Amino acid sequence: MNMITIHHNLKNSNPIFQQYEIGPIQNLLYLIGDPKTGTATLVDPAWDVPFLLSEIQKFNLTLTQIFLTHGHPDHVNGIPELVARYPHLSVYLGENEPDFLTPTAPNLIRTTNGTVLHAGGVEWTCIFTPGHTPGGQCFYSAPHLITGDTLFVNGCGRCDLPGGDAETLFSSLEILKTLPDDTTFYPGHSYSDRVSDTLGNQKITNPYFRDLPKNKFLDRRGR
Ligand SMILES: [Fe+2]
Repeated sequence: MNMITIHHNLKNSNPIFQQYEIGPIQNLLYLIGDPKTGTATLVDPAWDVPFLLSEIQKFNLTLTQIFLTHGHPDHVNGIPELVARYPHLSVYLGENEPDFLTPTAPNLIRTTNGTVLHAGGVEWTCIFTPGHTPGGQCFYSAPHLITGDTLFVNGCGRCDLPGGDAETLFSSLEILKTLPDDTTFYPGHSYSDRVSDTLGNQKITNPYFRDLPKNKFLDRRGR
């Protein structure tokens, strides 16, 4: 039985934005809902599909699409069950994610850097942030940013897994640093005492996101 923690309960907000901590390695998943159209988007669905579907039902929504920050199993292991049940679901994944990190889905759509998606009645821009995986992406709808395993509160993604690259991740974090400091980001794991933070705070407290020369970053994260 998975431990499930609901960190946000913004049910009166528009859009609906829920963050769930599910599974054995503290994955953070997201539900974005649009009460006007009754549609729901799941970001990185994994570990407990019945629970996620019950949440969607709780808000009287219909699941129409899935956004994937990257293809690691702990972020996509809910896909087979979801597409078996809803074969027409649109599943969005970065175009550079290799085959071994690409889940099977009848309606898999590859995003490019800058692709604009819609969820919760607002636009979400795909910002490619490779390094943790080749096809990693963040979803940005100012002032909110979903970062997957690119940036954690006071940490960043590993680069030692197949397809990872520390120099590339350094460049991706530099891109995120150009977003406004008051951007609130929502990571792919809960590895800290907080489950979200602003980019401005992370420039102070995160050893990987501070003003850090590339060689120091590589010393810390691997060459
Ligand atoms: Fe990952």
